[in-house]
Amino acid sequence: MLRLIKPIVFILCLLPLVMLFVNFYHDELGANPFEVLTRSSGEWTLRFLLITLAMTPLRQLTGSAWPLRLRRMLGLFSFFYVCVHLITYVVLDHFFDWDEILLDIIKRPYITFGMLAFILLTPLAMTSTKKMMKRLGRRWKSLHKLIYVIAILGVLHFFLLVKADLKEPVIYAIILLVLFAVRIKPTFLLKSGLNPQ
Ligand code: HEM
Repeated sequence: MLRLIKPIVFILCLLPLVMLFVNFYHDELGANPFEVLTRSSGEWTLRFLLITLAMTPLRQLTGSAWPLRLRRMLGLFSFFYVCVHLITYVVLDHFFDWDEILLDIIKRPYITFGMLAFILLTPLAMTSTKKMMKRLGRRWKSLHKLIYVIAILGVLHFFLLVKADLKEPVIYAIILLVLFAVRIKPTFLLKSGLNPQ
């Protein structure tokens, strides 16, 4: 069954990018297509981060192993979309003007948070293989807990960049809080001697 689910999910994960390129090719991204590319790849980065975080609770909910088997691929898609996001920012927004980019990172808090999230996500992607998992042992788990920090930074990045309508970042923040809550709850209940069931 999983052998079938994995390639289907893989194709589904690629669809947002394919759709972006198709719309770009057909000139259907509106007046500012580059901005749409940056914004859309940013949103998909955050969505994939949250979907990745949802896999453990989903496993507990369904009792099935498939969510955990998909987790690594989903996490890597988050990294893939942040790379697209960063490339559009460096190439299309700033035309490789490194001085301007550096200034942006220092002066604009939302870029600082985004960059920090990207820097933290990179070692997670680099150590996502089974070989690295074995090599790092217990340190692997500690390192990969950074995913929570990255998700928080991603949401903060979104909060800081919107000028007026906070609706969307608030929705992402609520989803993140729920994902944190469902992870904390069983541990808390166990510690307090209550049955999480
Ligand atoms: C894990 C890391 C990141 C996440 C989760 C993320 C997520 C997002 C999201 C959700 C948006 C808003 C999309 C919308 O308006 O609908 C966005 C926009 C943006 N992000 Fe990121 N981002 C990340 C990293 C970065 C990095 C590294 C940079 C550049 C250094 C960056 C630069 C931008 C820019 C320039 C925008 C558009 C701002 C605007 O149009 O006013 N992001 N990002």
